[in-house]
Order: sequence, then C-alpha cells, then structure tokens
Amino acid sequence: MQQQFSGQQELGQAYRALLDLCDRLETLADSIPRRIDTASCRVIMAELPERLRRVHALEETVLFPAVEDQRTAEDRKHLIARLRAEHDHDDRAAVELVCVLKAVLDERASLTWNAIGYMLRRFFETVRRHIATERLLLWRHA
Ligand SMILES: [Fe+2]
Repeated sequence: MQQQFSGQQELGQAYRALLDLCDRLETLADSIPRRIDTASCRVIMAELPERLRRVHALEETVLFPAVEDQRTAEDRKHLIARLRAEHDHDDRAAVELVCVLKAVLDERASLTWNAIGYMLRRFFETVRRHIATERLLLWRHA
C-alpha cells in the first residue's frame, strides 16, 4: 500500500513537471514570432523527451496496474491500448517538435510561424487533455 502511494506521488510529480513544460510551450507559442525565448527553446528541447518518457514509464507501473485492478478484461484492454497509442503519438510529436525548435534556433525552419505556433499548441493541448484523463483514472482507483 505504501509502495503504491509513493508510486502515485512520483507519478503526480512527473505529471506536474510535464505540465510545467506545457506552460513553457504555451508561453513560447504566445511569443511567436517576435519574442522567441531561445533559452526556453533549449530547455524544452533538452527536457521534453525525457519528461514524457518518465511519465510513460511510471504509468506502466503505477497507473495501468491500478486500472487493471478495477475494470473488466475487455474494458481495460481497450482503455490501456488507447492510452499507449496516445503515448506513441505524443512521443513522435515531441521528436518532431524538438526538430522544429532546433531548426528555429538554427534559423533554418521551413515551416511558417503560424504552422510552428499551431504545432506547439496542438502538442501542449493534447498532452494536457491526456494527463487530465489519466489523473481522473488514477485518483478514481487510488
Ligand atoms: Fe499517459
């Protein structure tokens, strides 16, 4: 029980760390194209893939077992498959986003500023929605 609780605390902290990066992405998107914070770009590039990986790893060991305990076999199979598919999508989107930010810093971005802003917003809005759903699942089964 204590181990489960600390796992949930760890996952909660990992969610907050990832959501902090989403806030940073939103600030960056709001600043396009006139006031690009290059230091913030570098923080996002350096930390986003690892924070996503950390959250996904903790969800495999903390969230998914909790969901499995509470649902019927068919229900949990579909739910967990859906969440894993969203993780794969977010991982790919993060890689693409880091590439675009690097291109921005190198002044060789091929996308328009509108397209870059849209990409940033789509990413952090998707991640925020995904985490909101998973937090509900986690706390419901705590
Ligand atoms: Fe997730």
